[in-house]
Amino acid sequence: MTDRRCSVAIDGPSGAGKSTIAKAAAARFGFLYVDTGAIYRTVGLAARRAGVDPHSATAVEPLLPGLDIRLDYGPDGTQRMYLHGEDVSTAIRTPEMSMYASAVSAIPAVRAFLMDMQRDMAQTHSVVMDGRDIGTVVLPDAGLKIFLTASLRARAERRLAELSAKGDPSTLEDVLTDMARRDEQDSSRAAAPLRAAEDAVIVDTSELTLAESIERVCALIREKFGPEAGR
Ligand code: DC
Repeated sequence: MTDRRCSVAIDGPSGAGKSTIAKAAAARFGFLYVDTGAIYRTVGLAARRAGVDPHSATAVEPLLPGLDIRLDYGPDGTQRMYLHGEDVSTAIRTPEMSMYASAVSAIPAVRAFLMDMQRDMAQTHSVVMDGRDIGTVVLPDAGLKIFLTASLRARAERRLAELSAKGDPSTLEDVLTDMARRDEQDSSRAAAPLRAAEDAVIVDTSELTLAESIERVCALIREKFGPEAGR
């Protein structure tokens, strides 16, 4: 069987620039960009709305069968998340939802519940998919795996700039503390912890501009899939 679909897995800690870089690279090659963090955030929001402790597997698991989570793309091509038909794409982007997402994502049943949704996207489209375990668990056969990272400080400064632009009052201290906690939570969990796949290319963006980071990732895609990728 000849399958011309290309899969690019981009994993790494929060604030490394994964989503911006992955989105730009996907647009360049005409691949679909899949932000898997947004899916975990939607489960986090559901837990928040149900008033349950997001760290408690026994509290979160019973919610899963009743959850209607959908991922779609708006007319401008941006990924939208729907919870029971409501567009929650903005509601999931708060610092509180980051912590909820990180907490529920440590629950194995949550990861299993979201697996098919993620794999289906890669079966039907050429994708650039970003997350924490894409190269290690979700798409272990991805044609290209990239582990995108940067120093904690560089990541916190970038995240602060994003939050400030949205009018969020968080300080650098707040962001550093939250990020260090989330790094620790995402890397130390038993279920699919954040780590680079053995065959991932490590890209450290601490000293790179955004434009340079995008070029680096696009160069890796071209090298792997050829100059005709996406055409
Ligand atoms: O990428 P993000 O910050 O939107 O992700 C939110 C949380 O979801 C993150 O702290 C860990 C979790 N996550 C995960 O466990 N696996 C993924 N593939 C993506 C996100």
